[in-house]
Amino acid sequence: MNPAAAQAANMIEAAHEDPLRPAYHFTAPAGWLNDPNGVGQVDGTYHLFYQYNPDGPFHDRIHWGHAVSEDLLHWRDRPIALAPSTGADREGCWSGVLVDDDGTPTIIYSGRADGRELPCLATGSADLDEWTPRAEPIIDAPPANHEITAFRDHCVWREAGRWRQLVGSGIAGAGGTAFLYESQDLRSWTELGTLVVGEAGDERLDDPDWTGTMWECVDFFRMSRGADGATASPDGTSDDEHLLIFSAWHEGHTLHPLVAIGSYDGRRFAIDRVQRLDLGGRHAYAPQSFRDESGRRIMWSWMQEGRDDAATDRAGWSGAMAMPRRLWLDENGYLCNTPVQELTGLRTARLRPTERNTTGGEPGGLEFAGTCVDMEFTAVLGAGGAVEVELFATPDGAERTVLQLRRDAVGLGVRLDRSDSTLAAGCDTSSHTGRIPGPGQRSNVRLLLDRSSLEVFINGVALTTRVYPTRPDADRIRVTVHGEARIESASAWELSGTEETGRALRP
Ligand code: FRU
Repeated sequence: MNPAAAQAANMIEAAHEDPLRPAYHFTAPAGWLNDPNGVGQVDGTYHLFYQYNPDGPFHDRIHWGHAVSEDLLHWRDRPIALAPSTGADREGCWSGVLVDDDGTPTIIYSGRADGRELPCLATGSADLDEWTPRAEPIIDAPPANHEITAFRDHCVWREAGRWRQLVGSGIAGAGGTAFLYESQDLRSWTELGTLVVGEAGDERLDDPDWTGTMWECVDFFRMSRGADGATASPDGTSDDEHLLIFSAWHEGHTLHPLVAIGSYDGRRFAIDRVQRLDLGGRHAYAPQSFRDESGRRIMWSWMQEGRDDAATDRAGWSGAMAMPRRLWLDENGYLCNTPVQELTGLRTARLRPTERNTTGGEPGGLEFAGTCVDMEFTAVLGAGGAVEVELFATPDGAERTVLQLRRDAVGLGVRLDRSDSTLAAGCDTSSHTGRIPGPGQRSNVRLLLDRSSLEVFINGVALTTRVYPTRPDADRIRVTVHGEARIESASAWELSGTEETGRALRP
């Protein structure tokens, strides 16, 4: 075996031996993965492209990996779709989208060269396996009349018989933005100005609502309210609410995904409100969504790591996709998300709880064991009542991640405490907090555990995070109630792994 092949084999082996590698979430064969790209469904088959470095678990010379699935759960690798060439993407093929150009699969992406990005285009074979990039960018410079913070990532749709495109950006001294363009042929574009400009104000890196100085991965669509609400591409003549998902960024900090909801008149987007898309912030970064053939709006995001570079290097892989989620607007116009219903197909053995006493000595606690688990329960919380769920916990509590749900004077608050989540040094152990909207006493809680990933859904509010327990017995799930609180119908299932066998770095 030549040295490069031996190194590749070592990386794959390390990645697949890592006990913290997710078993049922999509990951790259090994190496580095970040944003979901070009998500879509073509003739029944789901396509997931992604930011990929096959040469190591770090962000460099980004390619587009590609995988396909019939059920959103089991993925098969396809050949790498885009790799840095000698042209406009010679330093990397950054994020973008897939569109159908009258039968020709087409990717619009950000080509990186000379330390900056420009919009580029590649056309694909009918099976989406082979891609031919154009040598020249399709927009040769950012808008000249603004001092911008960055210019990359795309959302492309058809509106009023033409193509429309947004490119994520930011205006220095003002805030994040997206520039709107129009085209007849996807290759020559006219700038139509800013869609909307955020108000960055002072730097607030720790404020989970801060909209940042640049908007990455803009994703714009419309949706009507209700659990089965219709969703479609933007349309400036429709009264539907429009949603602009973006990832707030500031000088190299990938902060968190947000969604602005408002109205669109074909040129400008008037924001009515902005909400957090995931209480886990950067661990559910760079989301991209699409409308599938059944009419659902499905979204992926990048579950960014929280361990240090040395540990990541040893692991041989970095980054996983969050579970694909269905988005909908509730009757109050709050954007909710929940894992796609297909996921229940991975449930195998039902986990049996053991009754246990609470820390106060009263009965009422439940205990399960597992690290690849889908669990759900209803929490009924009266004034001051709380439910606490310890996850990835050792029997002695030396390692544990604690989810707390508490009803206080203003409503329902959630806190995810990672301070004891690992005995390893160098991990992100900051906590996540947020509020769950709505007045009711009952909350539906769903937890997805997958070795180093945790996704929590409470009444449609998501919280995604990463934890790195070190002990093999860090597999307990303990539920306890405090004060005016009750748990109803708790169930948990072991989930089966989905990873394809025999994966190669360059399929
Ligand atoms: C978001 C992002 C995008 C960019 C890509 C590069 O995580 O920074 O803005 O296109 O990743 O990999």
